[in-house]
Amino acid sequence: MAKHVVLIGFMGTGKTSCGRTLATRLGCGLVDLDKYIEAKEGRSIPEIFAAEGEPYFRAKEREAVREVVQRKFAVIATGGGTVKDEENLRILKERGVLVCLTADVDTILQRTERRGERPMLDRSEDRRKAVEELLESRREIYAGADFTVDTSRRSPMQVADEIVDFLRVGGFIRA
Ligand code: S3P
Repeated sequence: MAKHVVLIGFMGTGKTSCGRTLATRLGCGLVDLDKYIEAKEGRSIPEIFAAEGEPYFRAKEREAVREVVQRKFAVIATGGGTVKDEENLRILKERGVLVCLTADVDTILQRTERRGERPMLDRSEDRRKAVEELLESRREIYAGADFTVDTSRRSPMQVADEIVDFLRVGGFIRA
């Protein structure tokens, strides 16, 4: 079975928007893990965090990973913290090619500035510090991807082009 294209990376690195463009380019579906969880739960991620706490969300995220990899070839856009879980990472590596999207801290701050959407950042007084600390704690995990693309100051189309080139050269897709 063809490997999924799994987008990993920090909040605000463009996983959803680049994922959409990439899926169109590849002629396959996009599974956005956060949206998948929201649809199953019938409530938004911030609502889940507020009502049930992070451990509950992470349990739902683990379930979601196991379910979505069973689907046919797709671009899977994960949440920023999905690969923190060792078993999630193992499954995603086994069933997909891992592409990490990155962005500089200023770009991340700008793209995630709206309050009420990112519970992992909203709980901190100092947003820059929260981003820097979380990034540092996840740096090594993100660095384990098969391919990394910086999305700062680049359009989803440019990012998708670069990923398609990588997939082609690596023999993950034909043509
Ligand atoms: C999280 C990232 C979010 C979402 C949740 C937790 C994280 O996804 O899964 O708020 O721990 O980094 P995005 O990376 O799509 O914002």
